[in-house]
Amino acid sequence: MVQIGHILGIMSLQLRVFVPPHPVIKHWLAVARDRHTPSVLFRTALTELGRWLTYEAARDWLVTVETTVQTPLRECPATFINPEVPVAVVPILRAGLGLLDGAQALLPLASVYHLGLARDEETLQASCYLNKLPEAIAPQTRVLICEPMLATGGSIAYAMRELTQRGADPALVRIISVVAARPALQKLSQAYPSLQVYSACIDEGLNDRGYIVPGLGDAGDRAFGTD
Ligand code: URA
Repeated sequence: MVQIGHILGIMSLQLRVFVPPHPVIKHWLAVARDRHTPSVLFRTALTELGRWLTYEAARDWLVTVETTVQTPLRECPATFINPEVPVAVVPILRAGLGLLDGAQALLPLASVYHLGLARDEETLQASCYLNKLPEAIAPQTRVLICEPMLATGGSIAYAMRELTQRGADPALVRIISVVAARPALQKLSQAYPSLQVYSACIDEGLNDRGYIVPGLGDAGDRAFGTD
């Protein structure tokens, strides 16, 4: 898969940013970007992007165990996902809820820890109104953060601080996003160089209100019909 940071000239990026070159991901991204897409279809697009980005992120991240199973014909080697290694999904509300169903379809045993962050439209700072993270995150826990828009990086930096303070290992954290922009990626890269991001695309930049351009608008408003 293409590791995209250097292609975009973001030479200082240390963290790994993957943009899966898959037609299904491109299709649902196009649906999500289109301003004429109604809310119900926008939610479908986020669900599908959540599913396929989680699929890509989980490739070398889930831990497996080797064993054997008995087929109707004979014994054969088998690989299962190890249920003893904890997996956690952290949707950042509101918009992260849109990616959650797709992520859970692939990670049905994962614990889901909701984190509600609101962005002050003047200062662009994130403030927390709901934090369901546990007091401690067990060693080896795989953490998947669902955050569709990586814009200024305020919310994702907040989430990463809360997670690492509780023991999460940044090298075992994966972020799935729909649109990522350079300011957020640079912020994450400086603080967490071992982190990996899976995004449907990387866009040019931000406007003066902190929205990604061309982006897809306000993901929370579009998902919940509150435009
Ligand atoms: N949040 C959004 O929903 N959209 C943006 O473009 C940036 C942050």
